[in-house]
Amino acid sequence: MGTGKDEKNATQVVPLSPDQIMDLFYHASTRELMDMGNLACCQVHGRDILLRGLIEFTNVCTNDCLYCGIRNSNHKANRYRMEASMILKALQTGYDRGIRTFVLQGGEDPVYTIDRICGLVRQIKDLGKKDAAVTLSCGIRSREAYFKLAQAGADRYLLRFETADPKLHFLLRNIGLNDRLKALEDIRAAGFQVGSGYMVGLPGETRETRLENILLCQRLELDMVGLGPFIPHPDTPLKHSFQHPLEHTLRSVALVRLALPKAHIPATTAAGSLMPDGREQMIAAGANVLMPNLTQDKFKQKYLLYPGKICLNEKGIQDIESLNQRIRPLNRNLSFARGDALYHLTNMDTGEPK
Ligand code: 5AD
Repeated sequence: MGTGKDEKNATQVVPLSPDQIMDLFYHASTRELMDMGNLACCQVHGRDILLRGLIEFTNVCTNDCLYCGIRNSNHKANRYRMEASMILKALQTGYDRGIRTFVLQGGEDPVYTIDRICGLVRQIKDLGKKDAAVTLSCGIRSREAYFKLAQAGADRYLLRFETADPKLHFLLRNIGLNDRLKALEDIRAAGFQVGSGYMVGLPGETRETRLENILLCQRLELDMVGLGPFIPHPDTPLKHSFQHPLEHTLRSVALVRLALPKAHIPATTAAGSLMPDGREQMIAAGANVLMPNLTQDKFKQKYLLYPGKICLNEKGIQDIESLNQRIRPLNRNLSFARGDALYHLTNMDTGEPK
């Protein structure tokens, strides 16, 4: 590991090799892994925890993923689609509070066409918010669509691969893993900063799947990695699945950090929903991002991918205050910076800042 102590110097931390990752995966204790993940995180990202304001703009989805509470066949899901004005309003609240990265997340909703999303992105950028980064997370689209979205000004795209096991992927999603990976290639080609990730503890997943998930993130050279525990939703076919302990997720976060020291890794809401201090534990394992939810209450209460979701009655803005309190004991500070992918900030050849 690197030599610098607690200072931002991305070039000093060398990613672990796949063999080293495998060795730690099978032999290191959770405490050891978390300490290593935390140290690597501080060496690269310092004490800053980056904020991303989340807006869940539609829970309409044509997909039927077995694990997901907003799957098409879940007729109990109360569907909504936010108008642009509501999205912009949510965004403005975050912007006024200083947030400079917004994540627009939604199901694969055919009414939210590419042109409509492009229009929204342009509106955001034109509202004097050129300094804010826009991250999209709205599923598999065509290669041309990704290019259009990037052209419209979107900066980043998130598309989790969900599980690296191709058979399990097909079973759960009825779409091949390769289609997902092809979309990630298209997203990269369009010029986006790329995020992906997976759920930990899906039924049918083995230890080897959990290792492969980490190695796939590294092979994809992701700029952002979102991972969290799978939580069975009562209105899905996986309702009776076993709930794995958070520990698997924490081990995974630490190893992803060691595999991709520069990546931005959120302490996810799913972790906080499974355990009251789940997000703090993720930070202690190497996560460096928090995502306060800016979606208006009446909508976010319907965006239920899994049960027990936290902060449903809390304004995203209040959430920021409470997050500030929560990360103090971890000796971290909230950062309102855009938090671009680190390779955008350094010269790839020399490792020197641009
Ligand atoms: N438990 C945990 N995470 C889930 N997601 C979807 N359903 C669940 C669930 N039941 C995750 C998926 C998706 C992200 C937006 O939420 O990984 O990509």
